[in-house]
This record gives sequence, C-alpha cells and structure tokens, in this order.
Amino acid sequence: MVIVMGPDATPEDTDNLVELAASVGGEAYVTRGAGRTIIGLVGDVERFANLDLRAQPGVSDVRRTSAPYRLVSQENAVSRSVVRVGGVPLGGDTTTVIAGPCAVETPEQTLAAARMAQEAGASLLRGGAYKPRTSPYSFQGLGEAGLKILSDVRDETGLPIVTEVVDAADVELVASHADMLQIGARNMQNFALLHAAGEAGRPVLLKRGMTATIEEWLMAAEHIAQRGNLDIVLCERGIRTFENATRNTLDISAVPVAQKLSHLPVIVDPSHSGGQRDLVLPLSRAAIAAGADGVIVDVHPAPETALCDGPQALVDADLAELASAVRALSGLLGRPLA
Ligand code: E4P
Ligand code: PEP
Repeated sequence: MVIVMGPDATPEDTDNLVELAASVGGEAYVTRGAGRTIIGLVGDVERFANLDLRAQPGVSDVRRTSAPYRLVSQENAVSRSVVRVGGVPLGGDTTTVIAGPCAVETPEQTLAAARMAQEAGASLLRGGAYKPRTSPYSFQGLGEAGLKILSDVRDETGLPIVTEVVDAADVELVASHADMLQIGARNMQNFALLHAAGEAGRPVLLKRGMTATIEEWLMAAEHIAQRGNLDIVLCERGIRTFENATRNTLDISAVPVAQKLSHLPVIVDPSHSGGQRDLVLPLSRAAIAAGADGVIVDVHPAPETALCDGPQALVDADLAELASAVRALSGLLGRPLA
C-alpha cells in the first residue's frame, strides 16, 4: 500500500502518517523525490484500511499496489519523474546527454574530454574515479584524487558530475564531490551500496546488471527508494546473451518496458553495450527513437592511450555527427536537448 502526499503536504503531515501506521503495528517508508513524497506501508492492509488514511491532512491518494517494487512503480505515479542533477533535468520533456571519459586519468585528459562532451551536446559530465575492473591488474581508478579532478573540471566547465561509487564505505566521500552517484552494472544488487546511496542525499544513476531481469533492476531501484531517495534514473547498458559480436546486447525493449512499469527516467549507455566506437551512433539513435530519456556516452581525447575502454570511446571526429543526430531526433520527437 502506498500513500501519495499532495504538493502542499507538510513534514508534520508525513510524521502523523508514520505514527498512524506504527499505531496499528505497520511500518512506513518515507521517500522524497523532486516534487513528490510517497509513503510505502508494510503491514496488515485491513488494519491500515481502518485508519481512514485518505482523510488525513496532506494525503492526495492511497493506492493498493500489485507490483513488488511499490515506490518506483508506475502504478503509484502522479506523473513520470523528472530527476534534477545540478539543475539539469533527466526525464520529462527533454533529452539529456551525459558524456565524458570512462575513467578519470589526468586533469588534462578529463578537461579535454569534458570539452568534447560539451561539443556533443552534453549537459552532464561522466567519469569514473573508482573503476570496477574484471582484472585486479587493470587500472582501478584514481580514487579520491580522481574526484578532486572532477570537481575542478566542473568548476572550469560548469558541467555537473556523474561518477561511480563501488563501495558503501565510500558513498559519503563520493557524494561530497559528485552531483549524481552512479551504481554500475556489477553492483546492481550490492544491497549495502544501494542502501548507502539511498541515504546519501544525491540523485542515483542505477545501471542494469548484465544478467538482471527488468524486475530485478526495478527491485534494486526500490532498495534505494525505500531508504528515502526517489531521485533515481535507470540506465540500460546491455545484457549478456549468446551473441559475442558486441560487448553486450543492448536490450532496446527495456526502455519502453521499464518506462511502462516505473515512473523513473530511463537512459541508455550505447558505449558499454556495443563496446565499439562505430556502434555508438546507431545505438544512440535507436535509444532516442525508442523513447529513452537520454544517453550516456564515453569520449576520450586519445583513446589509443586510454586506461579503460578506449575502443568504445568517441573521438573528436565522431562528435559532430553524434550531436547533430541526437539534436535532430530528439527535436523530431518533441523532446529537445536539456
Ligand atoms: C568501465 O567502465 C568498466 O570498469 C569496464 O567496462 C570494466 O571492464 P573490464 O575491466 O572488463 O575491462
Ligand atoms: C561505467 O559506466 O563506467 C561502467 C563501469 O559501466 P557498467 O557498470 O555499465 O559496466
């Protein structure tokens, strides 16, 4: 059961409902997102029904939900969510491009990639300071030094930062630099990390695990929401299939399916799904045409020297084409670039 609070609800109205739920032995999880507060109730539905919740101050609606992911479910949405990252909207009437280096390597490389990102129409900068690598011998990221580089590049370019956190113990530190926390495919079901991110007071970009069903992905989002944070953006980044001509198989149908099941914005990562530079443009077109709320793209000033994922990074020569394709398609669909 879910209580949807009205736009004028006060914190006292919310506290009153939490107390009422407790008075009948229930639990209430308060989740705040941009423009809405939702309270998820766990307990005996018949006892909640006796509380006349609909008549309580501040309540806009009370819904029984059939989805197991009640807070992020479309069933409980007043409207589709728009998540703001440093003032930049994700979702709603616009299309958002996030771009930047796969990994932060040096201040010069990060600044050059950020300038490339801006040229490609990006309004948010991506870049990993903590890299989840298959091999312990691969570059693991610069850690805190990388976060400082990202902060400096934000000051220089004005681009808010999206960066990955791989360990619950680092969430506070990463959140002190980042405008948005990224949880990567490999950590989609790291529940301690999801909970810490849910409490960090920053929007979260949740990538789909490479072997996760859409329901498992939405349940992972529910873990973040249940800790009080509804500012979540889902990212389809390709799944493991028998096909090995691409790094991962972009599950394009995940875009409309996740948007049907959930009110959260859904973006696509064409870089990690295709794994090859020449696939980024067609997969970006496919994503926007399928209704994605944006794309997140790797760019690098010198991919041949990149310490991570060089083959999928766009170079200067590709950017004009990407920018004009994204602009044209998003304009055609009535969702201009954010
Ligand atoms: C990059 O973003 C990831 O860390 C990378 O894709 C991991 O892949 P790999 O370590 O298998 O190269
Ligand atoms: C990334 O975007 O840097 C990344 C590691 O991607 P994924 O988690 O999708 O593999």
